[in-house]
Amino acid sequence: MAVAARYWWSSRGLLLPRAGPGISALAALPPRLQQHRQVHHALIPHGRSGRSSVSGIVATVFGATGFLGRYVVNRLGRVGSQVIIPYRCDQYDLMYLRPMGDLGQLLFLEWDCKDKDSIRRAVEHSSVVINLVGKEWETKNFSFEDEFVNIPRSIAQVTREAGVETLVHISHLNANMKSPSKYLRSKAVGEKAVREELPDAIILKPSEMFGREDRFLNHYANMRWFGGVPLISLGKKTVKQPIYVVDVAKAIINAIKDPDAKGKTYALAGPNRYLLYDLVEYVYAVSFRTFFPYPLPRPLYHCLMYCYCQLSFLSVEHCCPGSRIGIRMV
Ligand SMILES: NC(=O)c1ccc[n+]([C@@H]2O[C@H](COP(=O)([O-])OP(=O)(O)OC[C@H]3O[C@@H](n4cnc5c(N)ncnc54)[C@H](OP(=O)(O)O)[C@@H]3O)[C@@H](O)[C@H]2O)c1
Repeated sequence: MAVAARYWWSSRGLLLPRAGPGISALAALPPRLQQHRQVHHALIPHGRSGRSSVSGIVATVFGATGFLGRYVVNRLGRVGSQVIIPYRCDQYDLMYLRPMGDLGQLLFLEWDCKDKDSIRRAVEHSSVVINLVGKEWETKNFSFEDEFVNIPRSIAQVTREAGVETLVHISHLNANMKSPSKYLRSKAVGEKAVREELPDAIILKPSEMFGREDRFLNHYANMRWFGGVPLISLGKKTVKQPIYVVDVAKAIINAIKDPDAKGKTYALAGPNRYLLYDLVEYVYAVSFRTFFPYPLPRPLYHCLMYCYCQLSFLSVEHCCPGSRIGIRMV
């Protein structure tokens, strides 16, 4: 990365030399009032749009350590963007993200979703903010309301205050205030909160995402623990239109680049609709396992999944992702 190409681009069109490399130099700068904020494009776009070129995008990706996050970071990194990755986990748990960008282009920053200053530090030098934060189950520390309403509201508010123009917020295709699912109701309230704070935010509503590390198809594939696959109404009344996670990541990048996307809401769904039964049957066929579905009434299904989650001897990997997605979505 040529040092000569590193500039501050002020809102008045001035080009100033950048203070130094990395987030530590950026974070050390004193906070500015919005009207004096120097929009941090950091790098002037140039090159052939590969990972060693410079796209001019400086993106903060909240929730980058999740399933969708890695694909978004990868897409940003491969076109030469600078990506700020706020994280709360052990730094060894995000080593896999490091090769996704050119040297020095991925900047890691510890954050606490309840601390607005840490959110501010993460977004104040970015041109784009992407919010992928979410959890498919509630914990004693974070309810669905925290995850899908309070955190998105804080991020949108700080984004607005910092003068960042582009915020991409990820909701869910079925988010609805009247939904029987608490998860989907919270998602709908979250969308409203984000719009109130930042009317120009771009809201993307994907359906269930599938991919290598998904918690959708993998969940059903791991159902052998139940001596077959328990499905509400045998899965013959549930229609799914899953979307490939890479397509969602591409949609996020396209939304960032499209000036007309501001303030719009997009539904993202795959090309085909399937009955859940057919999908699960297919999963078992390609994994050469015996498909033994059995119907289960909804309350019993919830009860079974809840008990399964409480079994402390099961690893978190086995316990939470699959079973809890079962509770909230099916
Ligand atoms: N997966 C799907 O099928 C699907 C479908 C439609 C919409 N969505 C939505 O798309 C978004 C991304 O989905 P995903 O599957 O990538 O989710 P994910 O794998 O569960 O990742 C969620 C990310 O959010 C972070 N996070 C969650 N709670 C946090 C908190 N309290 N403080 C700080 N960070 C927190 C997680 O950090 P840690 O790694 O530290 O936990 C992780 O990086 C979510 O909003 C989800 O609701 C997902």
